[in-house]
Amino acid sequence: MATWVDGIQRSALPEGAHCVIETEIGPVALFNLGDAVVAIEDRCSHDGGELACGRLDGDEITCPRHGARFSLRSGMPLSPPAYEAIETFPVRECDGMLQIDIDG
Ligand code: FES
Repeated sequence: MATWVDGIQRSALPEGAHCVIETEIGPVALFNLGDAVVAIEDRCSHDGGELACGRLDGDEITCPRHGARFSLRSGMPLSPPAYEAIETFPVRECDGMLQIDIDG
């Protein structure tokens, strides 16, 4: 069953921007990629680094701690030292509010 939680107003997240939402399952990062808004757990699968402050390159993020890259769309690792995916979450817009399904 889906558990939708409010994230941020869509108007407050322009293309290329991101934000971090504290949820009951931990921090979730939202990224506006232009053609989509995606949500990931803000925790690197290598050693727990905060991903949202990493370098964004298109739809890829580089962990600032040891340099692993991840796809923001799939959560899949793209380079070592990470070998496990990070969790991704469905996002929807409801009356201008971006919502995240934290059970997704
Ligand atoms: S904690 Fe992210 S690459 Fe090590």
